[in-house]
Amino acid sequence: MEFLEKLTQSFSPSGREEEICDIIFEEIKDYADSVYKDTLGNLIVRKEGNGKKIMFSAHTDEIGIMITYIDDKGFLRFSPIGWVDPFYALYQRVKFQSGITGVISYEEKTDAIKDIKMKNLFIDIGAKDKEEAQKMVSIGDTAQFVGDFVINGDRVMSKTLDNRAGVYVLTEAIKKIKSNNDLYFVFTSQEEVGLRGAKTSTFDIFPDFAIAVDVTDTGDTPECNYMAVSLGDGPCIKIKDQSVICDRELVQRIKSVATNNSIPYQLEVLEHGGTDAGAMHITRSGVKTGAISIPTRYIHSTCETCDINDIKNAILLVEKIADEI
Ligand code: CO
Ligand code: ZN
Repeated sequence: MEFLEKLTQSFSPSGREEEICDIIFEEIKDYADSVYKDTLGNLIVRKEGNGKKIMFSAHTDEIGIMITYIDDKGFLRFSPIGWVDPFYALYQRVKFQSGITGVISYEEKTDAIKDIKMKNLFIDIGAKDKEEAQKMVSIGDTAQFVGDFVINGDRVMSKTLDNRAGVYVLTEAIKKIKSNNDLYFVFTSQEEVGLRGAKTSTFDIFPDFAIAVDVTDTGDTPECNYMAVSLGDGPCIKIKDQSVICDRELVQRIKSVATNNSIPYQLEVLEHGGTDAGAMHITRSGVKTGAISIPTRYIHSTCETCDINDIKNAILLVEKIADEI
């Protein structure tokens, strides 16, 4: 799990995926036939073969914030990068690549705290005034949320398990896979701002099958919305989310691979949210697309929580799909 910790704590808000790509490259370079980076910042790892062309993806970017304005007192106004809930953001720490760290607070005159809007929030980086703040940060600088990596028994809690859990699944699978299929592992950029890296990389590769690996919601916390997914019951085979209806044939094949290898799985219908699969399946004339999801509580908070066994079973499932599908 040390490598997963390293991945979660790296600095890679959307559009700034360089650091995590370097970390992934160092980890998998000895297991790949080729590795290259494309114009949009996707890292593409290939294991060549004569069989089917299969593309796996996991997005490397994370949600964050970007500075839009610095006021006279040195407080920063900001815009979200990806989907950031203002309620989740309140009193969280944000860290810039330089290490400068601020806290998100709010205009106290705002009444209904649950309905708080992004425009009522600001960041305090400890600057005494605008001049001092401008020496520390600039308009357009991005910051990530801060959240330690903690293991609680079988559970892991950290910032950015969305989607470093998926990145970890692919890097571990790359080390183990033995297959004659022609395999592409794409560590995609800019998923959180609109599935952008997945779009260009799928166009370029145009695989027979595409499979996104990402996190999904659960329905196993007190008084939560109905969802037939629980932590620890296995990785999910996606049926549908807001961005994709997965290819029925591919879903069936993935289920068979799981069953034949005695890998536990759950079926996922995600009512809110999407993944890279949304962009992948409507590339060119269409690509048969599916997704493997890791059940995750509190997605897009600084305390995302997964079960280690689901992550391990997802690695095994990807390893077997790559060879047997
Ligand atoms: Co996300
Ligand atoms: Zn994600």
